[in-house]
Amino acid sequence: MEFRGSHILSIDQFSRSDIDVIFRTAREMEPYARRQKITRVLEGATLGNLFFEPSTRSRISFGAAFDRLGGAVRDTVGFQFSSMSKGESVYDTSRVVGGYVDVMVMRHPVEGAVREFAEATHIPVINGGDGPGEHPTQALLDLYTIRKELGRDLNQLDRTRVAMVGDLRYGRTVHSLTKLLSLFENIDFVFIAPQELQMPEALVEQARNRGHAVVQTTDMHEGISDVDVVYVTRLQQERFTTEEEAGKFLGYYVLNNAIYEKYCKPGTILMHPLPRDSRHGARELDEDLNHRPELAIFRQTDNGIPIRMALFALVLGVADRVHETARDAPWYVPEKIGVHDTK
Ligand code: NCD
Repeated sequence: MEFRGSHILSIDQFSRSDIDVIFRTAREMEPYARRQKITRVLEGATLGNLFFEPSTRSRISFGAAFDRLGGAVRDTVGFQFSSMSKGESVYDTSRVVGGYVDVMVMRHPVEGAVREFAEATHIPVINGGDGPGEHPTQALLDLYTIRKELGRDLNQLDRTRVAMVGDLRYGRTVHSLTKLLSLFENIDFVFIAPQELQMPEALVEQARNRGHAVVQTTDMHEGISDVDVVYVTRLQQERFTTEEEAGKFLGYYVLNNAIYEKYCKPGTILMHPLPRDSRHGARELDEDLNHRPELAIFRQTDNGIPIRMALFALVLGVADRVHETARDAPWYVPEKIGVHDTK
């Protein structure tokens, strides 16, 4: 695809070779993402970061990625603080904000709303999550993490076994990741969810039609026992009609250190898009796993920076100019960020 001037709305718009372009660009961004170098390639440009649903990491990481390219960020958070609460349409908001900024990121609780927003402007729009729909940048950073953690090249993903656990019905990250992995060859998917929260049939069909093996099960212990990656997700309580309905599934699956040691093959990589629900009664990915080097969740969040930097540079047409303004970063950066970081 031609990235310059494009919206990034769904994994459906990418071909296999587009993923190579994004990952190659992301690798170029690593020294800037890791605060070893500074670039000013987007000096003077502004990002409109529009988040109409709760977010910590996506909003901050889109903003930080833009900062690291030398640009400025304007945020708006929550309906109650925006004119949408006064009845302004998606179309009007899109045209108005488009007049102020050079690229926009939007998260919205309604599936398809980000597309509607993008259709009203020639300013590039990036989907930061649309209801239970998609979260394409999360899938890209997830695959970037899988590739790095397994030390496999993108063309060596054949027979990679990926288990996804939890709320596969409403979790947009697993929808986008399934679509993205389906672009490759011979992936073995294991979808582990309660019957009612299984992966949407259309995505299962798509994966099967492209020649991938798909197993669907409710049994987590069996499902995680022979895979390379276990990708755990949170129950998307906010997408259920009643709290009671959601409550039936809270704590349905708990993956903790004892279960990991009993059932997982040594070296199985643990991922989660985060936030993990650490409240009593949930704990789908227990904190007693924090010391394990296989727990990749924070390397995963770190990888959001180079991926989002790459997407901004590509849609704004500066990917080949990033190094022109490069210089060393002079400030103190610790070797490891988290107290349990092993790499
Ligand atoms: C996810 C999301 O918002 O879809 N978070 C994220 O962006 N990393 C996952 C979630 O909320 O469960």
